[in-house]
Amino acid sequence: MSTPAIAILGTGAHAPAKVLTNHELARLIDTTDEWIVTRTGIRERRIAGKNESTATMAAAAARAALSDAGVTADQIDLVILATLTPDLPMPATACLVQDLLGVPARAACFDLNAACSGFIYGLDTAWAMLASGRYHHALVIGAEKMSSIVDWTDRSTCVLFGDGAGAAVLGPARGTAQILGTRLYAEGAHAHLLSIPRGPKPVIQMKGREVFKNAVRQMEDAVREILEQHGLTAAQISSVIPHQANIRIIESLAQYLGLPLERFVINLDRHGNTSAASIPLALDQARRSGRVRAGDTTLLVAFGAGLTYGSALVRW
Ligand code: COA
Repeated sequence: MSTPAIAILGTGAHAPAKVLTNHELARLIDTTDEWIVTRTGIRERRIAGKNESTATMAAAAARAALSDAGVTADQIDLVILATLTPDLPMPATACLVQDLLGVPARAACFDLNAACSGFIYGLDTAWAMLASGRYHHALVIGAEKMSSIVDWTDRSTCVLFGDGAGAAVLGPARGTAQILGTRLYAEGAHAHLLSIPRGPKPVIQMKGREVFKNAVRQMEDAVREILEQHGLTAAQISSVIPHQANIRIIESLAQYLGLPLERFVINLDRHGNTSAASIPLALDQARRSGRVRAGDTTLLVAFGAGLTYGSALVRW
């Protein structure tokens, strides 16, 4: 029995209004714009306002995705929220988003934590659930309030992260657009490299150099394997949407693939690393600006705490 084709029918994003520039950060901690730009490519990031939570940002992105897809909230029967910054340990923030959107009670709603790989993990999960025929329309959302778990006294991590949300509506393919494949991985042996240990105020701790080295290797593997599996060459990929952590990691990946950097969608200069929100935020901006068009084949690739990593191939 062949499985039905499932596609991304629409996307949406939400970025908080407040911009925090490197220059502003340099007034708060011992750093410079030059250091941050040279080592990471980041120039500014968005910071959630007092009344913005992971749930409200997720709901804003989801509303935009529903409208883009021409799907209503009452058609949704699956909400997967990828986040490492849920509003509360329980209930799942996906349930708060369900309520904000008016998604009906017959929907399955849950959070998924695969850190910065969360959106690709969510895409894989929703695709499988929809392809089973038991669910029909899904919202896959990546939303993060990283500003709430950053140690604002640790200059080696606090300059990297930002807040935001991105979302996709998945459903039965309407034309030739469809999700072609996904690959998920995890290497728990490296879990200690990037974590939020328990404590009075839990904050991110990271061994930056080791994370960097692993990220390049893992993204290369995730790309090589998915291309091989689908009999594609890098040259046949119209655009790559990588996790937006560090421009130097993306440059290494581009070099490995033999692709010009122009083929990569990059917004980390304006948003920093928004973890699970990073790929859907960049994807929505790329679609709305015409970077990703009907007929294109796009490669998504991520890495994050776990260490998790993964890739996805999407035809539009
Ligand atoms: N401003 C100025 N100096 C800083 C700084 C900052 N914000 N952060 C660190 N430094 C200093 C360090 O203290 C160190 O000084 P020292 O040599 O006197 O000890 C020096 O810069 C070099 O630090 P190092 O950590 O070796 O720099 P790096 O080239 O590895 O860059 C990262 C640091 C964090 C930018 C880089 O390792 C990285 O991006 N890693 C991957 C992180 C990532 O993507 N995490 C998210 C995963 S989803």
